[in-house]
Amino acid sequence: MKLQSRKIVIIGAGHVGSHAGYALAAQGLAEHIMFIDLDAAKARAQAMDISDASLYLPHSVKVSAGDYSQAGDADLIIVSAGPLPDRSKGQNRMDTLGQTVAVMKDVIAKLKELKFDGIILNISNPADVITHYLQKGLNHPPRKILSTSTTLDSARLRRALSEAMGIDRKSILAHVLGEHGESQMVAWSAASVAGKPLRQLIAENPLYGGLDLEAIAKEARGGGWTVLEGKGSTEFGIASSIAEVVRALFGDEKRILPVSVLLDGEYGQKDVYASVPAVLGNNGVEMVLELSLSEEERKAFAASCASMRGNLQYALGL
Ligand code: 2OP
Repeated sequence: MKLQSRKIVIIGAGHVGSHAGYALAAQGLAEHIMFIDLDAAKARAQAMDISDASLYLPHSVKVSAGDYSQAGDADLIIVSAGPLPDRSKGQNRMDTLGQTVAVMKDVIAKLKELKFDGIILNISNPADVITHYLQKGLNHPPRKILSTSTTLDSARLRRALSEAMGIDRKSILAHVLGEHGESQMVAWSAASVAGKPLRQLIAENPLYGGLDLEAIAKEARGGGWTVLEGKGSTEFGIASSIAEVVRALFGDEKRILPVSVLLDGEYGQKDVYASVPAVLGNNGVEMVLELSLSEEERKAFAASCASMRGNLQYALGL
């Protein structure tokens, strides 16, 4: 029997990268986590801090800092480099596109040298467009490069629904689709509570008559801003989303999560990265699940895709 030890390389040791590293270590999802950052001292410090924590974690894990020459044997590479939007200037994720593309040019050049053919999980914002930019730049197999994207917005949506309904979020299934950003939309037609369509539940149960779905969708879309403006970064929510996606990939779980994938005709869309529910396993994105959307939702999803296509064109010209 071949014993396997899993190595995850995290490019970018800032708030998101370091919290991802800690979540992965705490949840026992890798035996070796290695940080790469332009600021080598920071990468070493994050690695040491998590390594110190590991004595009191339930799983053994090696945490190190290194460079690209040590990344070729990774089982998974997480890209979490680039700036967070500057809310004091009213920036959203898409406003950071130019800055992140500048960072990605270097990441692409370095990764190309590695000839890495494993799974790449991109977190860098604007997540969907940057994942597409990386896929094109690396000519990476599309099913092996994805983004957590609206996994996080869906968590925010289910939190808001749970608080408004007094029902545990794990019993509520609802997805944010499209962009991890301003053009995202909620697939309300496919939302359910323990299998009962949400809209039907609202129509039948006076308890939920006052539920304002618009306001709840807005909370999902703006949740990141509330966190970012309140503490200067978002980190725990995204770290947990990353760990959930990694567990599904490594565990070959065939679990369905809303992640950003390259669409090839699904939902009537082609050649665009957008978040949709997808089956995740050892091969990466193994299948896209097409939800039955209403006409209005299809239009909102198409508008989100159109906006991201336009931004990719802009990014490719930089
Ligand atoms: C988040 O939504 C800012 O994309 C980051 O937490």
